[in-house]
Amino acid sequence: MRYFDNASTTYPKPEEVYRAQDVFLRSAANPGRGAHQFALNAARQIFDSRLAVSEFLGIRDACRLVFTGGCTQSLNMALKGLSWQPGDVVLTSALEHNAMMRPLEQLKKQGVGIVQLPYAKSNVIGADDLRSALSQKKIRLCAVSAASNVTGETVNLADVAQLCAQYKVPLLVDAAQSVGVIEQNIDDLEISIWCASGHKGLMGPPGVGLLYVKSSVEIEPLIAGGTGSQSENFAMPSDYPDHLEAGTLPGPAILGLAAGVRFLADNGIAKIAEHEMMLAAQFLDWAQTQPHIHIYGPKTIAGRLAVVSFSMDGMTPDKVADILDSRYSIAVRPGLHCAAAAHRTLGTIDAGLVRASFGWFNTVSDVEYFCQALSEIAILATR
Ligand SMILES: Cc1ncc(COP(=O)(O)O)c(C=O)c1O
Repeated sequence: MRYFDNASTTYPKPEEVYRAQDVFLRSAANPGRGAHQFALNAARQIFDSRLAVSEFLGIRDACRLVFTGGCTQSLNMALKGLSWQPGDVVLTSALEHNAMMRPLEQLKKQGVGIVQLPYAKSNVIGADDLRSALSQKKIRLCAVSAASNVTGETVNLADVAQLCAQYKVPLLVDAAQSVGVIEQNIDDLEISIWCASGHKGLMGPPGVGLLYVKSSVEIEPLIAGGTGSQSENFAMPSDYPDHLEAGTLPGPAILGLAAGVRFLADNGIAKIAEHEMMLAAQFLDWAQTQPHIHIYGPKTIAGRLAVVSFSMDGMTPDKVADILDSRYSIAVRPGLHCAAAAHRTLGTIDAGLVRASFGWFNTVSDVEYFCQALSEIAILATR
């Protein structure tokens, strides 16, 4: 299988990631539940993982980094845990994933308004559009993704954060696609809430995500339950991370995530990103010589991740992906990519697009094979 669906989840994982999960399952039990060796071992391993991931992300206070089940869960916990007043407005971008749009849609029932910024052709969010929207009185939160999972376009987060700070509007970032690919020192930016997946660029397994909440931000827990601490109280502890970590943590997935992060740190995030962008450039350059293939988003690698969506004349995205899979054993993702807002913005809501997302374990010859397969499919499509 040639796997070009790394924006869904990276595959394969580094060997260390498989091994770390196995080690946890064989040597650790439930952290914070009991004082026997296996419980202590679990607590120690999870503590070490929290420190390693925080350090990698540039978060000084590791306690404020909460482990969740994934980026969708992090976004829901953040958006639903803030206290809202009817009439509050959330500002968001034109390219958001349903993990952002669906919880926002639910907030409408509490009288919260949602304003989507226009789609700016460079950097997704135009500075003038953002400035004029932020100057409106009722903006309570700016909630945007750092990179689109459809076009691969990146947002200039430093500029957005600076403008939000200027207007004293808290910024929530969905970093599902950018984490592990774009180097980020979270504490260096004015970010109030930061959400990410563990199973994409960080190379961890599914089942773990991240939620960072700045100390000045209040979030009510969406899920309440046992934490192994302050068990005499019915109220959730106010200390982090317990405040937002009810129930047994996914220990194997957390250990796998920490192993993924160590793999990135050892190899260097810049080297990995350079390799992925080289493959994206190879594909983009080829695609632009093909009259029947149309790229969405930037035509070069500037301002994007190694995520490239396209359409093919004469064939639906579903059909292209189906032939790639069944005849060539190539994995891509067709359709709407759980991002209806983005596809509405792009005018591709009816059939969607074909998305190819390149990863560290792909090679130049994989991409050559992919291009050759698409050339053959294009002949079928235009017959
Ligand atoms: C931009 C974006 N946000 C959120 C998510 C949801 O992430 P998770 O699968 O970790 O819940 C995704 C997943 O594809 C995504 O691309």
